[in-house]
Amino acid sequence: MEYDVSIIGLGYVGLSTGICFANRGIKVLGIDIDQKKIQKIRKGKSPIFEKNMSILLKKVVKNGKLRVQSNYDDIFKSKIIFLAVGTPSNIDGSINLKYIKTAIKNIGLSIKKSNEYFLIVIKSTVIPNTSEKIIKDLERHSGKICGTDFGIIVNPEFLQEGKAVQDTLYPDRIIIGHSSQKDKKIIMKLYKKIYRKVPPVVYTNLNNAELIKYSTSTFLALKISYINYIARLAENIPGGDIVEIKTAMSLDKRISESFLNAGLGFGGSCFPKDIRAIKSFSKDNGINSDILKSIIEINRTQPLRVITMVKKKLGNVQKKNISILGLSFKPGTDDMRDAVSIIIIKKLVALKAKIKVYDPIAIDNAKRIFGNSIQYSKNPVECIKNTDCCILVTEWSEFKNLKPKDFVKQMNRPLLIDGRRLYEKSIFKNYLEYNAIGLS
Ligand SMILES: NC(=O)c1ccc[n+]([C@@H]2O[C@H](COP(=O)([O-])OP(=O)(O)OC[C@H]3O[C@@H](n4cnc5c(N)ncnc54)[C@H](O)[C@@H]3O)[C@@H](O)[C@H]2O)c1
Repeated sequence: MEYDVSIIGLGYVGLSTGICFANRGIKVLGIDIDQKKIQKIRKGKSPIFEKNMSILLKKVVKNGKLRVQSNYDDIFKSKIIFLAVGTPSNIDGSINLKYIKTAIKNIGLSIKKSNEYFLIVIKSTVIPNTSEKIIKDLERHSGKICGTDFGIIVNPEFLQEGKAVQDTLYPDRIIIGHSSQKDKKIIMKLYKKIYRKVPPVVYTNLNNAELIKYSTSTFLALKISYINYIARLAENIPGGDIVEIKTAMSLDKRISESFLNAGLGFGGSCFPKDIRAIKSFSKDNGINSDILKSIIEINRTQPLRVITMVKKKLGNVQKKNISILGLSFKPGTDDMRDAVSIIIIKKLVALKAKIKVYDPIAIDNAKRIFGNSIQYSKNPVECIKNTDCCILVTEWSEFKNLKPKDFVKQMNRPLLIDGRRLYEKSIFKNYLEYNAIGLS
């Protein structure tokens, strides 16, 4: 076979997977309908920002281990086909499978030309029962039979943006949803070549594998909303401080410290849409999902708390200069999909405040969202200069370099709202007006 695997959809998941596999010596064919993305990748340039991605990408494009194209003509030249296209929400919150359906149709038409046994590996996040629908569609488009001519694996992805390469090469666990021993053997033969030390593998059926992904995302989002709820309580008790409460909670071996930082809530391309999808799935199955409603509601109102804090301090914010540090939905990525910065900035712009922003890498994406309604700065110091209030929205580590004296020297009024508890309150409180989430 000309390729060992092909990967359909070269976004955060597909591109990370393709580059990491190719770096382990696997011959990868990448397919994406976005021509611009394909052109960029061919030139060895990464269309997304991820640590170490550019170096690895250049290497595998140069040595030919990764080849990319925008059509499906050569799909049948690899026996293992990974599906990593997006699975966004419909208006009612349910999962939108339009990209999956188009991809499956194209795979079907391509594998029709060959008598090989193909394995389709679903990396995209899909709601339970989706793989059953995919099988029917694939049978219809290819004229082939599942179990005889092709197999399906549900292998959900858990990488975190900002750590995509690391997470792809060293996952905590691998979930293999399968319906035949043959398929299980094929995928594990590949994974033994890729992972120097194969992480724990959970074998299960297709539906459980689909639900494992949602139960994991939802649980992590639940932890975030829960600690933000406790942060609200802490703000209302004398001397309350969520950092101390969280530190104490984390010492309990039953509670892991990860995803337990109070802040402005979660954003990004996964948690919000995954919760919407599982909520809609619960409804279809007659299962009460009030628990999800609470996660969503806390998260919806959490960014607005900084607006309340700003108003409390500045009164009317019209014509007030406000600086925003950090725009991406989390540090380490340029991804602004569903970022809380968007909610905060739009609200402040509507209140006619003058906004200046800085982010280490998300400025280009921010320009596409805000245009010239706000000002863009080249560094954090320029951003806070002459402003009446600064809101820290994304906890990039470079913001740690800002010391109390920088805020005092640069700002009109040294008023800092720490939305992510990045700064040490005991030091900052001595020098400036330091307000923070979860601090009374
Ligand atoms: N981003 C994450 O951190 C992450 C983590 C775990 C799981 N996931 C899941 O993985 C899937 C992909 O997520 P992503 O963030 O990489 O998405 P993305 O939007 O970054 O990338 C999807 C890519 O698929 C391409 N595409 C769409 N339709 C296509 C088609 N018919 N043929 C070929 N290419 C097509 C798009 O052009 C795009 O480049 C989603 O289901 C998501 O929920 C994402």
